[in-house]
Amino acid sequence: MALVSPSLLSADFGNLQRDIEMLNRSEASMLHIDVMDGMFVPNISFGFPVMKFIQKYAEKPLDVHLMIMDPGRYVSQVRDTGADIMNVHFEACTHLHRVVQQIKQAGMKAGVTLNPATPVEMLEDIIDDVDMVLIMSVNPGFAAQKFIPGALKKVKRLRQMISEHQASALIEIDGGINLETGKEAVDAGADILVAGNYVFSAPDPMRNIALLHAL
Ligand code: DX5
Ligand code: ZN
Repeated sequence: MALVSPSLLSADFGNLQRDIEMLNRSEASMLHIDVMDGMFVPNISFGFPVMKFIQKYAEKPLDVHLMIMDPGRYVSQVRDTGADIMNVHFEACTHLHRVVQQIKQAGMKAGVTLNPATPVEMLEDIIDDVDMVLIMSVNPGFAAQKFIPGALKKVKRLRQMISEHQASALIEIDGGINLETGKEAVDAGADILVAGNYVFSAPDPMRNIALLHAL
C-alpha cells in the first residue's frame, strides 16, 4: 500500500474548493502543495494567500514542497498556512541543518528534497534528523513531465541508507508518476507517491488515486 499525495498544481484553480473536497473524500493520504518562486525554478505557481484558502478546505495533512531560494526565510509563514510537512530543497539551503531544526521547532515535519542531479549520499549527515526525503523524478518547475528512470536507483540507495542508520525518514517521489512508474518506485522502496497530471487529467481522479494507493 503506497501513500498518495496528489499535487494541486494540476488542479482546476477555478474550482479549487471542488477539487480539494474531492481529495478529502479520496484515498489520498495528504495534499501536495507546490510553491515556486521563479528563481529556484523557472516557473511561478502560488503563494501564501492561496495556501490559506487550501488550508480552509483541506481535511488532510498538507505536504508543502517549496521550490524557492532560501526557504528558511519563510518557516513561520509556512507553518501559519497550515503545513504539516515543510519540504525544502537541498540545493536551495546554504545551512540545511539549521533550516531543518527551525522547521521542527516550528512544530512541522521536516522534509529535504533532492533534484535529479543531487546524489542521495549528500544526506548521510542529516538523514537521522529528517522526517521525509523527497526524490525528484523530473526537474522541478512543471507538471506533466516525463519520469527520469535514474530516480529509481536513488530511491534504492536511499532506502539502504535509511535502514543502515535505522532512521525513520519516509521516502517520497515526485514527477511523472503514473501506474507504471508508481509501481517501479514502490518496488524500489518509495513510501509516498506524488501525482499531479495522472490524477487531475483522469476522467475519474478518485479512481486513479485508489489505483496508486493499491500499489
Ligand atoms: C514539479 C512538482 C510536482 C508536479 C508533479 O515541479 O514538484 O509536484 O506537480 O506533477 P506530475 O505528477 O504531473 O509530474
Ligand atoms: Zn512537488
